[in-house]
Amino acid sequence: MYAESHARIRTDDRSPEDIADAALAAWSDASLLVPLGARSYPVRIAVSAPRALADEVAAMDPSSVFVVTDATVRELWGASVEGALAERGLRPSAAAVIAPGEQSKRLAVVEEVLSKMIAAGADRDTVVVAHGGGVVSDIAGFAAATLLRGVRWVAAPTTLLSMVDAAVGGKTGVDLGPAKNAVGAFHQPSAVIIGPSHVATESLRAFRSGLAEVVKSACVGDAQLFELVSREAERALSRDLAVVTEIVERSVAVKVSIVSRDERESGDRALLNFGHTLGHALEAHGNWERLTHGEAVALGMVAALRVGCELGVTDADTAARVTRLLADLGLPVDLAREPVDDARKLLTLDKKRRGSSLRAILLRRIGEPLLRDMDMGELSSLFARVATAEPPPS
Ligand code: GLY
Repeated sequence: MYAESHARIRTDDRSPEDIADAALAAWSDASLLVPLGARSYPVRIAVSAPRALADEVAAMDPSSVFVVTDATVRELWGASVEGALAERGLRPSAAAVIAPGEQSKRLAVVEEVLSKMIAAGADRDTVVVAHGGGVVSDIAGFAAATLLRGVRWVAAPTTLLSMVDAAVGGKTGVDLGPAKNAVGAFHQPSAVIIGPSHVATESLRAFRSGLAEVVKSACVGDAQLFELVSREAERALSRDLAVVTEIVERSVAVKVSIVSRDERESGDRALLNFGHTLGHALEAHGNWERLTHGEAVALGMVAALRVGCELGVTDADTAARVTRLLADLGLPVDLAREPVDDARKLLTLDKKRRGSSLRAILLRRIGEPLLRDMDMGELSSLFARVATAEPPPS
């Protein structure tokens, strides 16, 4: 029963005032639950994320704590997290600081992180804290999944992209050459602590990349979120905290609803890959550098919408509205400028491939996605065709 609680507060050795403060903070933060039986966990959208993180980790009564972060996040936020942990009597045994960027999502980096933890005396009651963006949570979560065959971890995402997608749902892992997320494990965190104010420090390009995943969430699960982002695009881009917080909450709710009905992607979870089929291929073709993940996904969504139009699934107005919103958010939408012909050779690396069949994610209308198993050759040809054809009339 307690596994499905929205917050945990450690009470040992604490004054009643201190416990009341922590309970009040947990109560005033918005909180969602990922209901997965004994592996259920809260996603807390916290006003004071370092403090909420420290409360959550302390309630887990760890033997030791390891923080995995990147150099940029450590400089900006490392001291506040370590300070909050210290206030709860927790001193991280070691911090693994990885280089920022997708290039770090490699097995060699996971090995370095694991070696550091083992050298510092990790045991099965160790808790790993992933403090950073999507790359950090993928690496730290995978290290936690494999360290001593699995230890607990807590995600503290600092970028919009990781708040709305990477940190929630338990997908962890690394890329292998051009194969995105080819090696990894499902390993749910014990909690996700989101501090929306962190987005103020990311680059505009990185923030826009996160907005692409927000648009994806809206398309596959929340038409009202689509309306909100369309209406408030300017305030969202200026990172107005109230708008960002609402966008994060609604996007997380879409993800929680999908993950809770299909944790291991045997069906509906593939919907979260809307735009990722051609997106991942373009991202890999650019060697993870030319395009951000969100830019690649934006282009992939445009391609999926146009494929949907060709197949008579998507109406032209839906395709035009989504494309217009992506462009308004400063994301690329011009497929004709992209190396689609070369990138589509990488479609065989897609995890949704089964033999010569690939599961396409299409959109009937905003909020109404559709999965369709297609012959890979046919889908690839359609991508080539829509990349050079005129966009559908709006
Ligand atoms: N990022 C897609 C998923 O978590 O399933």
